[in-house]
Amino acid sequence: MTLEIPKIGLGTWLIGGGRDKDPNYDVKMGIEAIQNAIRNGLYHIDTASLYGDGAAEEIIGKAIKEFDRNKLIIASKVKRSDMDYDGIINSCKESLKRLQLDYLDIFYIHFPNPDFPVSETARAFNDLMEEGLIKHIGICNACIETIEKYAEAFNYPISIIQEHYNLVFREPSKRGVIEYCKEKNIPFVAWRPLQKEIPDINIKDITKTGNYPILDGIAKKNGKTNAQIAIKWLISQDNVYTIFKTTNAKHLQEAIDCNNFELSKEDIQELTDNFPNQQEVGRDSRGPLPLG
Ligand SMILES: NC(=O)c1ccc[n+]([C@@H]2O[C@H](COP(=O)([O-])OP(=O)(O)OC[C@H]3O[C@@H](n4cnc5c(N)ncnc54)[C@H](OP(=O)(O)O)[C@@H]3O)[C@@H](O)[C@H]2O)c1
Repeated sequence: MTLEIPKIGLGTWLIGGGRDKDPNYDVKMGIEAIQNAIRNGLYHIDTASLYGDGAAEEIIGKAIKEFDRNKLIIASKVKRSDMDYDGIINSCKESLKRLQLDYLDIFYIHFPNPDFPVSETARAFNDLMEEGLIKHIGICNACIETIEKYAEAFNYPISIIQEHYNLVFREPSKRGVIEYCKEKNIPFVAWRPLQKEIPDINIKDITKTGNYPILDGIAKKNGKTNAQIAIKWLISQDNVYTIFKTTNAKHLQEAIDCNNFELSKEDIQELTDNFPNQQEVGRDSRGPLPLG
């Protein structure tokens, strides 16, 4: 079964908490923001058991009840620490409970973990596929060698790859994952399209004007915001999709508007070649893991 996703989907990191559940998170606001996003065409929703320690999934579960399940693409992920056979099976079942669903469209390995044999991971994913609890297998944050090790072990194809990729973080393009996905016809999803600041390596917030004159200039010329140009640069690339998080109605509209304009080839090339301080290795890169 081929997986078709829209160019822009909704991320949910920081909905319901960070690594822990935030008891003071405004759940009603979160539910309404997700519903507003779905009504505006963001029907691919990305989450993980890690987000708010399950709180994001609980909020999504409440938000999606009123929508046609068949029209949603719901993705979740198993944590790096849960990658033994039982851990993967339980993680999936717990995610389904919190999401109030009977299947996930996509179940990702959140981070490959060399502490767990690939064969054991594959057995769990194969069983989840056979039971119909998941429709597609995805892998996040893996190099080509790691992706291929998993691909050999699964009885089912890898349907989707997700990595840190934006104007600053270029590992997937520099190390060939984007090209690899294109050749294999596997959708590549760029997470964190709107890179925020990381002061210790001098990375600035790309959504704010004044930080990157090259981006400010292209945004001004096109009459768009920096965030829109950053998203558009990604989705203009063949086979590249993205997920971004917002609970802000104005930010949502900015992202949706990215489907309504084009960036010139020259603008895309300029950003590809000359955006400053490009990082070849992602913050969450695990490199070519010795998975055995
Ligand atoms: N697989 C993985 O390992 C992995 C890792 C990280 C993230 N992810 C997924 O990828 C998704 C996206 O990444 P992310 O949430 O880290 O970062 P992001 O989507 O690039 O940025 C989100 C931040 O940008 C703000 N924002 C959104 N639109 C904006 C706009 N137009 N102008 C200015 N600020 C804007 C949001 O705040 P407001 O809510 O106020 O708009 C939020 O603070 C995550 O939510 C998660 O689902 C996956």
